[in-house]
Amino acid sequence: MRENDTGSHAVLMDKVYRHQRYIYDLTRRYYLFGRDRMIRELALAPGESVVEVGCGTARNLIKIARRYPKAQLFGLDASAEMLETARRNLARAKLQHRVTLVQGYAEQLSPSLFGRLDLFDRALFPYSLSMIPDWRQALRAASDSLTPDGRLHVVDFGDLEGLGWIGAGVLRNWLGLFHVEPRTEIVRAIEHQAALAPGQRGQMVLLPGRYAFLWTAGRAGIGAIGLNYVAQQTQAGGNSSS
Ligand SMILES: C[S@@+](CC[C@H](N)C(=O)[O-])C[C@H]1O[C@@H](n2cnc3c(N)ncnc32)[C@H](O)[C@@H]1O
Repeated sequence: MRENDTGSHAVLMDKVYRHQRYIYDLTRRYYLFGRDRMIRELALAPGESVVEVGCGTARNLIKIARRYPKAQLFGLDASAEMLETARRNLARAKLQHRVTLVQGYAEQLSPSLFGRLDLFDRALFPYSLSMIPDWRQALRAASDSLTPDGRLHVVDFGDLEGLGWIGAGVLRNWLGLFHVEPRTEIVRAIEHQAALAPGQRGQMVLLPGRYAFLWTAGRAGIGAIGLNYVAQQTQAGGNSSS
């Protein structure tokens, strides 16, 4: 992604969330499914470090801070507007000392953005890959930011195939209004890789109707799924949106 692209993307995200941020948590609980399950299944050991990429209002970081009182928590978001709400929510929850927030781009994720030398134990993408323009680069940056045993945790919209073409079409159009694009390629790549090399892709769970997927993977799994297969498809002229 070019410098200007990231700059204009931040402006776009601020525009999307300038007013939405006030009703975000209230409204999204009805359709961003799987986030609490992801948090439960993190099973963090004391002292483990977690970065949420596209942390929005800090809704997830607050839940993680309460469930895992010894975890080190970091949040990255492109939108200054969302981060303003995140800071307010953390202060209200008296958890501001537990979480470090930084404005920046997923595509440029690195521990140094937070003034850290140590790599992260976990990188979380709850409903953010579907908004990140260069999501392949974001996965690459996340992989490079993880310890050798580190894990990626994604929850996001699936390929919606179980909703029927009318249901899926209506949902896609509606999500498009918010600049959200389900990353169908990722779900397909995980399933493709699972067929070729079971166990190499990490673990994926699909929610009913293939509405959403939860995926956890180590660095090898991210490389196998997120980057290589999708890159081959792109070169071969397959459908690949960005
Ligand atoms: C749908 S919201 C999800 C927020 C939060 N993870 C949750 O589960 O409530 C997506 C978030 O990703 C952020 N975002 C979009 N593109 C980004 C990028 N390239 N880098 C960092 N954050 C980005 C948006 O500003 C927004 O706060």
